[in-house]
Amino acid sequence: MTTEIKIQQARADMSGETRRRVFSGIQPSGDVQLGNYLGAIKGWADRQAEKENFFCIVDLHALTTPQDPDELRHQTRSLAAMLFAAGLDPDKSTIFIQSHVTAHAEGCWLLNCVTPVGWLERMTQFKEKADNQERVSTGLLDYPVLMAGDIILYDAHEVPVGEDQRQHVELARDIAQRFNRIYGDTFVVPEAVIPEIGGRVMGLNDPSVKMSKSFSHIRGHAVRLLDEPDEIDRSIKRAVTDNENEIRFSDDPERAGVNNLLGIYKVITDKTEAEVESDFADARGYGDLKKRVAEVVIEALTPIRERYNRLMGDVEELDRLLERGADQARAVADPKLDEVKHRMGLILPGRKG
Ligand code: AMP
Ligand code: TRP
Repeated sequence: MTTEIKIQQARADMSGETRRRVFSGIQPSGDVQLGNYLGAIKGWADRQAEKENFFCIVDLHALTTPQDPDELRHQTRSLAAMLFAAGLDPDKSTIFIQSHVTAHAEGCWLLNCVTPVGWLERMTQFKEKADNQERVSTGLLDYPVLMAGDIILYDAHEVPVGEDQRQHVELARDIAQRFNRIYGDTFVVPEAVIPEIGGRVMGLNDPSVKMSKSFSHIRGHAVRLLDEPDEIDRSIKRAVTDNENEIRFSDDPERAGVNNLLGIYKVITDKTEAEVESDFADARGYGDLKKRVAEVVIEALTPIRERYNRLMGDVEELDRLLERGADQARAVADPKLDEVKHRMGLILPGRKG
């Protein structure tokens, strides 16, 4: 625990209030794109001073679909560097790699034994992913139980995620409640916290689908966080819009492209819808809209890219930061795992009773 967190915790303890715990995770697969940043990472960074935060690079989750081992190692460090570069501060948040804290894998097994398989077969993301694969691993089905363990081993109150993860957080609640019912009050029942706009950034080439890391190799689909300014400019200028000429927010599916561009602008500039629309009152058509959206995106991403490059140039420092995060995470997850084992009737080594 850092001195600052210790002092804050001591203050909270003295005043009888405990700080709200936040847990979220992100997979080290594919290139981090603007949707990840606006829907998840930016919010984590903006609010990290208010809460006690745990941000986890979920390498075990990445293994649920086929990965190249060297590539996975690279992606894991790269994502860590990206999170620090995007503003997660090791003095305010615990940032760590999931597989470094073995309580996650062990906790998953224990929770498997209280989770009906029907709950997992119903998961929308499982059905979608399984449909696209010839062979489906047991890990893919079990994915949400591993995720539930991630969250509840930390007694997290809040889980900031994009809309697509709502169902998984609901499942984590169900598992926590079921465990509490069977074995007595053990886990905090977590809640998903989903940002209103930015919760769903859509593909630039097709605003009817979510912008996704898995499609970020498709030309014009995504803005990747490490894209050079001219690439960002090109992707946004190619974005699909419509045949009208009106720059305002709308939920008409025909106008999803323009709505998406305005949403991106809104989250980056932290403005209200009315302020955004008034910013564009003098714009001449969609060309102008795209130009200005590209400008704010480039302005936001340039310092992130620069910090990222510095960190990737010093892997020892990066690994040191991650080790510190894992130590802090173990200090919370390990005792909780022991409590779970004890409640379930396992003997803890070296302990009577
Ligand atoms: P993933 O890329 O699935 O590992 O997602 C990491 C985090 O980013 C999760 O909280 C997702 O919900 C969020 N996320 C991913 N894509 C988008 C998107 N297009 N819009 C908003 N949030 C997203
Ligand atoms: N499944 C999440 C995603 O793909 C990542 C994740 C794993 C996660 N464990 C978590 C998110 C715990 C929040 C809390 O986005």
